[in-house]
Amino acid sequence: MCGIVGAVADRQVQNILLEGLKRLEYRGYDSAGMAVLSADARLSRQRAVGKVAALEEKLQASGLRGHVGIAHTRWATHGRPTENNAHPHQSGDSLAVVHNGIIENYEILKADLEGQGYVFLSETDTEVIAHLMSREVSRHDDLLSAFQHVVDMLNGAYALAVTHADYPDQIVGARKGSPLVVGVGIDEAFLASDPLALLQVTDRFIYLQEGDVARLTVGGNIEIFNAGQSVERPSAIFEHGDGAVSRGDYRHFMLKEIHEQSQVIANTLEGRLGDRHVFTRILGAEADDLLAHVKNIQIVACGTSYHAGMVARYWLEKLAGIPTQVEVASEYRYREVVVPEGTLFVTLSQSGETADTLAALRYASQKGGYLASLAICNVPGSSLVRESDLTLMTQAGPEIGVASTKAFTTQLVALLLLTLALRHVRQGDDDVQARLVNALRELPRLITRGLALDSAIETMSAAFAEKHHALFLGRGTMFPIALEGALKLKEISYIHAEAYPAGELKHGPLALVDSDMPVIAVAPNDELLEKLKSNLQEVRARGGELFVFADEHVAINESEGVHVLRMPAVDDVIAPILYTLPLQLLSYHVAVLKGTDVDQPRNLAKSVTVE
Ligand code: G6P
Repeated sequence: MCGIVGAVADRQVQNILLEGLKRLEYRGYDSAGMAVLSADARLSRQRAVGKVAALEEKLQASGLRGHVGIAHTRWATHGRPTENNAHPHQSGDSLAVVHNGIIENYEILKADLEGQGYVFLSETDTEVIAHLMSREVSRHDDLLSAFQHVVDMLNGAYALAVTHADYPDQIVGARKGSPLVVGVGIDEAFLASDPLALLQVTDRFIYLQEGDVARLTVGGNIEIFNAGQSVERPSAIFEHGDGAVSRGDYRHFMLKEIHEQSQVIANTLEGRLGDRHVFTRILGAEADDLLAHVKNIQIVACGTSYHAGMVARYWLEKLAGIPTQVEVASEYRYREVVVPEGTLFVTLSQSGETADTLAALRYASQKGGYLASLAICNVPGSSLVRESDLTLMTQAGPEIGVASTKAFTTQLVALLLLTLALRHVRQGDDDVQARLVNALRELPRLITRGLALDSAIETMSAAFAEKHHALFLGRGTMFPIALEGALKLKEISYIHAEAYPAGELKHGPLALVDSDMPVIAVAPNDELLEKLKSNLQEVRARGGELFVFADEHVAINESEGVHVLRMPAVDDVIAPILYTLPLQLLSYHVAVLKGTDVDQPRNLAKSVTVE
């Protein structure tokens, strides 16, 4: 999704801004641009459609330089991905604006501005902000008060940064509904929509809060205001280090992140497992009391995170005996929901900034009647974390590949920890918990064994490269894993893939099965295995080619049209975590064979901060 970088310094900032844009490429975008103020306070701008590399060429050719500037990667919402629609947007020669999010009242504002003689050059909602700023700067004594006035007129979601030639020593920024951080430097200051954009210049950040407006001045002065009042915001050190955002020796971030799963799962488990049970304080000191009152659970999430929620539903009902609902956030937020007594409202999100998930949390807070809200999230300081009553952090580290991998498996681990903590609060120690705590301790080693199948899966992937469709089957907790496998394949290889609970096969999808439709099944050694085997027979009987990821002890054998990949034996509760790996690797290798842009698939964004 769109990215913002801004800088004010004594030194030239164009390369800092450019490096920031490169670091934001992973979020997904279709055009990029930059505007800087030179030493003699002249505003220059360059914009380009396509990759940041195209902008870099233009910047080099134009020799654009300056000590104050803003830059942007755009993911089209209003208007096509053209140079005219790319940010920064200007009004006249002296003012430039970059914007993430959506201005909902832009049509009214635009009509008003056009009536006053302003001419619009783009199809974007953002251009109204440029013209409003131009108008208000002429009516106010300083940039900040003009900016505050403009911000008050905007409905919708935004992170903004503005620079103006009449104020060549500063930039102003604001956030409402879209993330924005201030990077604290030594005698210099920065703005970005994501701290990763600035790790080359600082590791200290102030996470702006809803409604904050900031002014950054040359010399490193940072002022923050909310509702017109000056406010203090704490700064925090970004802990993951700059190494976490480099590809190392891996060909793609996605492959690196798949291979990090053993370590990040160990990190997510650290300090949370007792000898025979999960510590209930993983949710904070008062959690025992609160967890004891949970009678229902409502999970809300989007995309891959939603699939993690679907797995958790099986766990929470089976192991903790708690009725659980799971819903995509974009539906939940617009529904009249009935909240059963004692409902814990759980959001799942890698980024903690997904617009629909955040809106669902706000809807729940406004509606009231929930016991508490809990965010299971990977980004400390994100909006979801700040606005929830309780948090359970995954420790996946920065995830750069748009297709989520390690964030998903660490979410599963966190959800299983939550399930076991709830069980412990209800019934104290028992052998089931002791068994699963043990299995969780073993999990990082098992993940390493699972990843050793990489080259076998790479060989298998050749069978998919020329296909146009694929069908994934699973039962029980393996159904959401099948859904996640299908999502991965379509996200990065653009092959149409669907997933079904295997028992639904004869209610429709069987009609599609022929030799052109590969069928992938996940078959751990669980109580539904025999039923799954019958479903696989149904596929074979129609000439469908089967690719089965099966437990090493399961009697499913290779034969004509049946390819079996043996997985390490695993407790069936843990199986969904382990069986995710081969499906991630399969989609990765198919995408590589097809030559797609694995880390930044077309049309997709890492963090969907607009509705
Ligand atoms: C986007 C990403 C997905 C992610 C989903 C939810 O679609 O491309 O990988 O699963 O958003 O994101 P979240 O950050 O809330 O988990």
